[in-house]
Amino acid sequence: MLAVAVLAAGKGTRMRSAHPKVLQPLAGATLVDWVLQSCEPLNPQRWLVVVGHQAERVQQHMQRDGQRLEFVLQQPQQGTGHSVQQLLQPLADFTGTLLVLNGDVPLLRSTTLHRLVQHHRQSGSAVTVLTACLEDPKGYGRVFCDDRQRVTAVVEDRDCTDEQRRNKRINGGVYCFHWPSLAAVLPRLKADNQQGELYLTDAVGLLDPATQLTVEDATEISGVNDRGQLAACEQVLQQRLRQQWLAAGVSFLDPASCSLSPGTRFGRDVVVAPQTHFRGANSVGDGCRIGPGALIEDSQLEADVEVTFSVVRQARLARGCTVGPFAHLRPGTVLEEHCKVGNFVEVKNSQLGADVKAGHLSYLGDARLGRGVNVGAGTITANFDGIGKHPTTVGEGSSIGANAVLVAPVTLGRDVTVAAGSTITSDVTDDALAIARCRQVEKKAWHEPAASHRSGSTSETAADQPS
Ligand code: UD1
Ligand code: CA
Repeated sequence: MLAVAVLAAGKGTRMRSAHPKVLQPLAGATLVDWVLQSCEPLNPQRWLVVVGHQAERVQQHMQRDGQRLEFVLQQPQQGTGHSVQQLLQPLADFTGTLLVLNGDVPLLRSTTLHRLVQHHRQSGSAVTVLTACLEDPKGYGRVFCDDRQRVTAVVEDRDCTDEQRRNKRINGGVYCFHWPSLAAVLPRLKADNQQGELYLTDAVGLLDPATQLTVEDATEISGVNDRGQLAACEQVLQQRLRQQWLAAGVSFLDPASCSLSPGTRFGRDVVVAPQTHFRGANSVGDGCRIGPGALIEDSQLEADVEVTFSVVRQARLARGCTVGPFAHLRPGTVLEEHCKVGNFVEVKNSQLGADVKAGHLSYLGDARLGRGVNVGAGTITANFDGIGKHPTTVGEGSSIGANAVLVAPVTLGRDVTVAAGSTITSDVTDDALAIARCRQVEKKAWHEPAASHRSGSTSETAADQPS
């Protein structure tokens, strides 16, 4: 039986943030999401999370991820040992292996955790600590071993003597315990250290036999205590995501300038140009060309879509659409096949039928456009009357002249033509031409009034002369 416990009750003082540390955003998720994700392939029977600082927020965030999590409250927060003491009751009947992870170690690989659990079980230890040897071990607890490689003590950086501080073997904050053995020593922890806290690391010193396993790649156990470390982890995770997709057949023209989220999926032969960012859950079909300069969030793009210098959020784009440069597709946008949405066009909560073209300077909100509609430059759907939003419907094959305003609610039939510059306030029937603008007035043989008639003062007149 394997249970996982994630310690996520701390405040994270060194982040200097109004938000709990474990909810800091990291590579398209949060710090604690990455920790949970690394444990998933182990298929633990139970998942426990110790929450405390802003417990409700942390709990709410994690619940949304739909996992079977048991939340345990630690109030107040008196250290990592005190945090694990809160498990004594919920795990009263548990007799298996407990994998404990600090909530701030996001770079762990599942394979490493797997090795740790295996190693622990085979060695029959009471505890196995995941360690690394770091050139710069500053800030981490130091792990001391005897000649038989048994762990004798873990001493926090701030509690170390100068001599002890030279030890480069550090505690990764990830441990496998034989739970009944740990449960027996937990009540004996004392707060006789610099921080006056109960340290989980002291429990390691009380257990016998205590062993350690060294990670091969020391970056895996990087802990996040401040923003510098958070940024460093972001780099590592982004690099891993890009590597994964490069291997799966995606081209990145300038990988380091692009960022990905774990929820983004790509087809084959996608080309991602520089400065392109994916957030949330996206699917990007075969042969898409995204960027340069694009932000794609929670959207589905079918095959062969092209997006250049544009923002696409909560939108669905069918095969062969082209977007940009400088378009903004907002939530609820649906583009059917081969639509073109171009320069400075904003679309919100609208469905554009196949082959619709909206090439220049438009706003389409709460609109439904049939197949093949041509939206002239500067067309605006006036969807808001100051109180509510209203729909605009345009039938297939219609053509909207430049600079038209469609005042919603309004319905235009099929194959309608709207004259340029029209303000359309009433419905238009199929095949009609709608013109709604002032007639042009032409005054024959008209001359500008003479300059002397326009003003009494000669000096002002001179200044008013058109150049
Ligand atoms: C801890 C270890 C240190 C190790 C390092 C690895 C202890 C005493 N020290 O130090 O040996 O090298 O991690 O990254 O364990 N937490 C609670 N309740 C609390 C306090 C903390 O749940 O009362 C949680 C935090 O939310 C955090 C984790 O425990 O996720 C670790 O706490 P943190 O204060 O970051 O420990 P470190 O000082 O980094
Ligand atoms: Ca830490």
